[in-house]
Amino acid sequence: MSLQGILNTDLGKGTIHRHIYGHFSEHLGRCIYEGIWVGEDSPIPNTKGIRNDVVKALKQIRIPVLRWPGGCFADEYHWKDGIGPKAERKRMVNTHWGGVVENNHFGTHEFMELCKQLGCEPYINGNVGSGTVQEMSEWVEYLTFDGVSPMAELRAANGQEAPWKVTYFGVGNENWGCGGNMRPEYYADLYRRYQTYVRNYGDNKIHRIACGPNVDDYHWMEVVMREAGRFMDSITLHYYTLPNDSWADKGEATGFDEKAWHTTLKKTLRMDELITRHSAIMDQYDPEGRVGLIVDEWGTWYNVEPGTNPGFLYQQNSIRDALVAGLNFNIFHKHNRRVRMANIAQTINVLQAVILTEGEKMILTPTYHVFDMYKVHQDAELLELALDAGSYKLDDSEIPAVTGTASRDAEGFIHISLCNLQHHAEADVTIDLRGLAAEQWQVEGVTLAGDRVDDHNTFDQPNNVVPKAFEACNLEGGKLHAALPAMSVTTLKLAPKA
Ligand code: AHR
Repeated sequence: MSLQGILNTDLGKGTIHRHIYGHFSEHLGRCIYEGIWVGEDSPIPNTKGIRNDVVKALKQIRIPVLRWPGGCFADEYHWKDGIGPKAERKRMVNTHWGGVVENNHFGTHEFMELCKQLGCEPYINGNVGSGTVQEMSEWVEYLTFDGVSPMAELRAANGQEAPWKVTYFGVGNENWGCGGNMRPEYYADLYRRYQTYVRNYGDNKIHRIACGPNVDDYHWMEVVMREAGRFMDSITLHYYTLPNDSWADKGEATGFDEKAWHTTLKKTLRMDELITRHSAIMDQYDPEGRVGLIVDEWGTWYNVEPGTNPGFLYQQNSIRDALVAGLNFNIFHKHNRRVRMANIAQTINVLQAVILTEGEKMILTPTYHVFDMYKVHQDAELLELALDAGSYKLDDSEIPAVTGTASRDAEGFIHISLCNLQHHAEADVTIDLRGLAAEQWQVEGVTLAGDRVDDHNTFDQPNNVVPKAFEACNLEGGKLHAALPAMSVTTLKLAPKA
């Protein structure tokens, strides 16, 4: 298949917010415990209880922001249970996720230490479903108050004299479901009330985030924006990719066929429509575009790996997940006017994880590699790329064959990322470069591709799916040519010749 495109390298379309490469880590399964937190006494190399290998890997992909402690867990979490001497912290049952005992060893101090080690911004999700206004207000005071106050003194007594900087604070999670089964009218009123006490202390300015809709619940977006839009900085959207239409049988993470491949990518592409439709509602109540749309839960959701706790949501991750990540990033870039943050669900050992661990072993998933390849777009200027997407048909279903995105970074380098969705065919892409003297530029690239639809990494074979130097590209006569392998994500770098 041959496809043509035009890249206007001199037509900027705004910044691609680096926070769209954000992460979400919940007290769920082996995400926090084992995945991140092993404790100071663990034989697994750690710094203050946090795994060194995981921190190193996440720093490599320049993790910009991390959301915690949930998810559904957030609306059952009482932050005071997670401070003070560990031996005295309350033990509780994690009712949502597997009914296991939560010992609260990972709490506020440990999370803020994690963010410090990662060099990322914290995004803390407060409890509206089962928590009080006072509790939320005191958490913010504990975290950020600089001066004499009961919570600042408690923080100091627990070893942290100086206040932390907390930029992002979520007022509830999925309050239409696990966060209280509320109606949007009721939540909008609660949001207005709770956020009043999420105060800015000193020079700490909090970005207040309202709970937004699930998937295509446009009524929720309409009501919450209408009633509470002026009290928020952002509102969330949750959309997961399930291969099947049934929560009872969502589809397998590996061992699936071409039909499941095609369907999964088609369902991922729905993100574009969802953002478009929700943005249109936001435009009505916020025409200036002040309020951001945060896709703070996205990713694939499959049946759990056989033999694992169904409440732990542990799944493998294949080249299909890499395509899902690339497609979502391309969509988020396109919607950079509204979409200012996105958080993959979840960072480690849960759903579309970028890292899997088994004891002291750690592997990087194909999704991780896409984060790594796309990090060049963080805070870069989105460029106008018009691409003939072609057509990829299977039975009676049709999706684009290729999607792409381009940006220019602060040093002037241009990066183009292209996803070839086809499981069976290469795509020859020719892009006419406008707005630069192409004969003075050169191209190099890196690609992540699969041979089979479910190619993945295992603890025995961690390098089955890894990025490789991409030779099938050149720049001649003002045109960029790339022969994209089937089932691939490719990033090209255009740089002036030395
Ligand atoms: O990511 C798993 C769960 O999915 C989260 O806890 C919840 O917010 C969503 O339903």
